[in-house]
Amino acid sequence: MAPYTSLASSSHDVELGHPEAKARGDLRISPPQGLRRASSLKRRQQERTRRFAVGGGVAAALVLLLWTFTGGRREERREVFGPPPSLVRVGARAGTAPNATTLLTSAAPARSYHDALRPDLRYLTLDTWSGWSGQFLTVLSQLYLAHLTQRVAIIPSFRDADHYGDAMITADLLMDFGKYRREHGALFVFWDEVKPLDRAHATTERDAIGCYMGVNSFEGGRSFDEHNLDQTIWRVPRPGGHLQNSVEALTLFDYDDEDRLKRLRKFADKEGREIPPNMLDSQLLCYSSLWDLAHAGALTTGWAWYEGFRGQQREAGELKDMLALSARGTHPEWWAVGQYVDFAPGIWDIALNATHHTLGLDYVPKNLITIHLRRGDFKSWCSAGENCTPTVDRYIEKLEPLLDLSPPGTKILVTTDEQDDGDFLGAIDALGWYRVDHRALGTKAILDARYGEAAPWADAVVDQAILSLGAHFVGTSGSQVSLLTELRVAAWNGGETRLVERPS
Ligand SMILES: *[C@@H]1O[C@H](CO)[C@@H](O)[C@H](O)[C@H]1NC(C)=O
Ligand SMILES: *[C@@H]1O[C@H](CO)[C@@H](O)[C@H](O)[C@H]1NC(C)=O
Repeated sequence: MAPYTSLASSSHDVELGHPEAKARGDLRISPPQGLRRASSLKRRQQERTRRFAVGGGVAAALVLLLWTFTGGRREERREVFGPPPSLVRVGARAGTAPNATTLLTSAAPARSYHDALRPDLRYLTLDTWSGWSGQFLTVLSQLYLAHLTQRVAIIPSFRDADHYGDAMITADLLMDFGKYRREHGALFVFWDEVKPLDRAHATTERDAIGCYMGVNSFEGGRSFDEHNLDQTIWRVPRPGGHLQNSVEALTLFDYDDEDRLKRLRKFADKEGREIPPNMLDSQLLCYSSLWDLAHAGALTTGWAWYEGFRGQQREAGELKDMLALSARGTHPEWWAVGQYVDFAPGIWDIALNATHHTLGLDYVPKNLITIHLRRGDFKSWCSAGENCTPTVDRYIEKLEPLLDLSPPGTKILVTTDEQDDGDFLGAIDALGWYRVDHRALGTKAILDARYGEAAPWADAVVDQAILSLGAHFVGTSGSQVSLLTELRVAAWNGGETRLVERPS
């Protein structure tokens, strides 16, 4: 992966404005709790389907062998997808990794969260904002900080009516958090295991929850109120001066109870506010947002999320290039947590099937370059207000050095949210690139059948699984999908990645 990237650059443009998402905005479906449980059944079914798919892969391997034998050119196949398996088995000794049954009281899920939390454990929570990618990235930060501070993460439910209708999900519908728990022993539960969804505030108690300010200004979460949580945000200054948003400052702030409570009381006095009970001890710590963490090492060298979200470190000298990506101090949550969180089997099913059909193959080639052409609201998101997305030529420029690293005949697989601009789509097709055409593939019907009202969420993740198959990757700057794909292609495939800048 080349220089660090690029998240979107103002609070209202992070992954907003997908043209289809706008249309979806008026869906009015409200699944109560249990969507997650219902889907776990589906997931088991899908796991079986995937095993069949592997069987199909073996048959395909035989065909290829024959073809190679009869003079065809060999194309290396890819047999393993997602993160490398972990050899650590935390649950091996006890036979199981701690989950909600052990991490919460027997009263959970309870009418008040106070009854669900074990008095002898420490917990860390937050609410999330933005689309799927932003919320997922925030949870990675939460899991990372929880790990460093020896707390159980209470992962928020996801809600985003701007993109996905009113369906709420828990993140394990789309990502394999069960495998992550088993392999890494991470301690986490989901909010609906602590306290049920209660969107009408009818069946649970209204619980106050006080949250310290996070590391950026995106403070409005989307789901706490749906669990009947009354959130207040407390902008109590942390120690650490200009490094108060570093991972290190957050860690010390947590452990130095005395200092934290002193600062809190002083702040409460000044503001004349009453402190919610969860802030008066150390049992449940809450932040408003932890999206995009950085270590002090990155912050001291000039990295700052708000500088257009470029994520570049501005060191002079050669140090930056000498440091491994994982050691530069930016996106530490990805290197510690995110890289180990796989897509759920049901997402892989659909993504691999779409890839096979698009390439006209019954396998995924090992050498493949993926490209993410993000358009959507980017089209009008620049100072000129129009023609704001890069032309296809800009992607070709970034692709060329990656082709030099690849064997002849490497296929180019493209995903784009553009469905209507015939000239643009024609220009891609004329290059001989393989474009995933979800309309032609009928992906929507498949997603609807499997995920019901949560289908728009699943739709947001399928392309990410497809893009992760790239041995190398070209993305669009400012897109969190491109950022996540850069990280996946670097961590899972050791690939090189490039981002195309958008006109300013
Ligand atoms: C936690 O794990 C145990 C042992 O595998 C299992 O019996 C139990 O159902 C799990 N609890 C939850 C809430 O998933
Ligand atoms: C695989 O894709 C094809 C073409 O889009 C579709 O007809 C078929 O239903 C898909 N199968 C599965 C299991 O998703």
